[in-house]
Amino acid sequence: MKEKDEISRRDFMKVATWSIGGLIGLGWGIPAIAYVASPAWKSEQAQVWIRLGATSKVELGVPTLFKVKVKRQTGWIVNEEELSVYVLTEDGRNYIAMSNVCTHLGCRVRWIAEQDRFFCPCHNGVFDQQGNVVSGPPPRPLNQYQVKVEDGQLFILGG
Ligand code: FES
Repeated sequence: MKEKDEISRRDFMKVATWSIGGLIGLGWGIPAIAYVASPAWKSEQAQVWIRLGATSKVELGVPTLFKVKVKRQTGWIVNEEELSVYVLTEDGRNYIAMSNVCTHLGCRVRWIAEQDRFFCPCHNGVFDQQGNVVSGPPPRPLNQYQVKVEDGQLFILGG
């Protein structure tokens, strides 16, 4: 009977030690894992205003190409990528900003001034000056960005 009591006291100490150790481990481990893993759980990028350049660069009625470098974060990886945006204005006050990424399979479109059209080299997609589909396989117009002008500078909303 006495030996059985000692064993059970010893077992109790073991269980108590492991329990306290486990609780301390959880107390440190869960916040540490959450801190390390949190970037991977972020699925949405914050939208920020990206400065393209001066409005004076845009010629009336001609889509004008702006190229800017933006940083994108995916999980822990930060990449810098170049964004190419065509800006069009008819009156110098209202602007539209279009992505140069074709809405078919993502190739880069180019503005060909002599033909007054955007052309996609991959499958001959053609878009008009406002980015509407004229012919070819693209299913919809070129994507547009929200635009604002501050102190003569063009900004687009992107992430
Ligand atoms: S990717 Fe542009 S037409 Fe196919």
